[in-house]
This record gives sequence, structure tokens and C-alpha cells, in this order.
Amino acid sequence: MDQKKRIFSGIQPSGDLTLGSYMGAIKSWAALQEDYDCLFCIVDMHAITVRQNPADLRRRTLEQMAQYIACGLDPEKNIMFVQSHVPQHAELSWVLGCYTQFGELSRMTQFKDKSAKHADNITAGLFTYPVLMAADILLYQADLVPVGQDQKQHVELCRDIAARFNNSFPDTFTIPEPFIPKMGARIMSLGTPENKMSKSEPDGCVFLMDSPEDIARKFKRAVTDCETAVRYDKENKPGVSNLLTIYCAATGKTIEQAEADFAGQGYGVFKPAVGEAVIELLRPIREESQRLLKDKAYLEAVCKDGAEKASYLATKTLRKVYKKVGFVAR
Ligand code: TYM
Repeated sequence: MDQKKRIFSGIQPSGDLTLGSYMGAIKSWAALQEDYDCLFCIVDMHAITVRQNPADLRRRTLEQMAQYIACGLDPEKNIMFVQSHVPQHAELSWVLGCYTQFGELSRMTQFKDKSAKHADNITAGLFTYPVLMAADILLYQADLVPVGQDQKQHVELCRDIAARFNNSFPDTFTIPEPFIPKMGARIMSLGTPENKMSKSEPDGCVFLMDSPEDIARKFKRAVTDCETAVRYDKENKPGVSNLLTIYCAATGKTIEQAEADFAGQGYGVFKPAVGEAVIELLRPIREESQRLLKDKAYLEAVCKDGAEKASYLATKTLRKVYKKVGFVAR
């Protein structure tokens, strides 16, 4: 029998999980878990590239594990773990950093954006973040990396680093492919639909744990345009197009079906209907997360088990890398 292909992906616990991270990432992970050998990580080491409140980071890390499970990721089928529990990520990152050019990292658009946003705190960690991300992926010899469009450049860099390393030391790393799910791949802010929905802009952002009332309010306030037609046109109607994308991702309908559903009905009907679809989508996820969060011992056991399995795989790659670069065996 063919071996299953391997997948690695992760989300930063730098804020509560959003509808964007659900529709752009976790939902597609859940669909992949049957056919692939998957590792799903909570990348807390990435989160500290910008300042975090330590107590909040700790709370959110365990909450994120509960939410992963509530979204349908099965800890029995996948390796689900916390990045800082597997020290090999930091160790491989150091080696890969020595095979990455300063110029390559300077070209990363996310670094440029984030360093403009956090101009008083542009750390070396923020700069070398894509190297750590490459280590995450390459440690497990992942074939595919499901990410949203905004992370594609980082996966491309990971490929370049892996290919360069393999060029010096053949057969070290599998070269991974970015895997961008088609529908709902990019969810935009409800307030400024030109920007992606992001935890750093809470007003235009729906969180998985938001109450139905909050969700309804956020969708009622969503920015649209001065027409009345519910029609998909990303260029001229970014707000309405984003709402259509969200509606379709929540209901499984196509854009054509959704346009037909709202033909002749104005935004006053459309916006609350999208809100309602999202409320129904998130209700079971929120309730199951709340239930799981009461069982801290279970969540900690899932993290521990995941870290052990991940560490086993990571050790194999790191040993190989240390040997190839010329480190004396311990
Ligand atoms: P992060 O934590 O910013 O986002 C996690 C995943 O969710 C996707 N995403 C979105 N997709 C659609 N619409 C949105 N509004 C939206 N917001 C977020 C992101 O594209 C991403 O796939 N560096 C990564 C985390 C990471 C990682 C990795 C990913 C670290 N190591 C290794 C894959 C493999 C990040 O900051 O994602």
C-alpha cells in the first residue's frame, strides 16, 4: 500500500481563533485528516515575535487545542501539539538560518507589514520568523502545507531553503508544496474588506467563541457599498463579495446559488442572513470548545501525547541534519 502523504500546518495562538483561520485553514485541515498523515501545531514560538501578555498566551494555547478538537480535528488520527514542547523546532531553525540569506528575509511582505506596524519593536525574531516556519515544515518531511494565501510566500521560501540545503547535502529534506484551499481561502475584514480578517482588527473580525448576539451585530454592521444588488464582484464590491464567500463557506452553496437566493432582496435581508449562517456554523464549535475546556487534564494529555509523537519524528530529521553539517554525535 502507498504511504500516505504528510501534511504540516499551524496557527499562532497570538489571538483568539477567527472565522478567517477557521474557513481559511482549520476547515480544510478537517477534510484532509482522513487521507493524509497530518501534524497540526499550535505555534506559540511564532506568537512571541510580537509582544504577548504571558497569561493570555498560556490560556489561549490550551483554548486553541480545545477549538482544534471542537472543529473536528481528531487527536487519535492526527499529531496535534504545541510547538514549544518540541525543542527540535528551535534547533533546526538555527541550522536553517545559516542557510538563509539576509536579502531573502528582507523581501518577505509580512515582515515589511509587521515591522511597519510594530516600528518600536522590530526584533530579530520577527525577521527570522520564516526560518522557524521552514523548520516546522522540514522537520517532519511534510509533502503538503495547507495555508491561506498570506502564508504562501513563506512556504515558497521554505522550498528554497530546503532545495539549497539538499543541494549541499543530498536527500535531506522533502520539498513541500503549498496547498491553498479554493473556497473561503481568503476571508476579509467585515469593516475594511480590502484587508484580511485578522485578530489585530477585532471590529471587522468574528471570533470562533463570539456569542450569537455579537456575531449578528458584526454582520449587521458589515461594510457593503451604495448599490443594492447581491452580486459577486471582488473589484467593485469587495464587502458584498466577502460576505458571499463567507455565506458559501458556511452553507456549502455555490456563489451562483447564493446570488439567486438573494436576487431582488437588498442588503437589509442579505447581511443578517449571512450572520445567521455563521451563527449556526459556529454554535456547535463554541459549545464543544466550552465543554472540552472544563477538562483541562484531557487537553494536557492530548498536548503531551502529540509532543511525544512529534518529537519522535523530529529527532530523526534533526539527527540527520546535525550529522550532515558536521556536528560530532552526542
Ligand atoms: P496565522 O496564525 O496568521 O494563520 C493561520 C492560518 O490561517 C490562515 N488565515 C486566513 N485564511 C483566510 N482568511 C483569513 N482572513 C485568514 N487569516 C489567517 C493563514 O493563511 C494560515 O494558514 N506563520 C503562520 C503559522 C505557521 C505555519 C507554520 C503554517 C507557523 N509555522 C508551518 C504552516 C506551516 C501564521 O502566522 O499563520
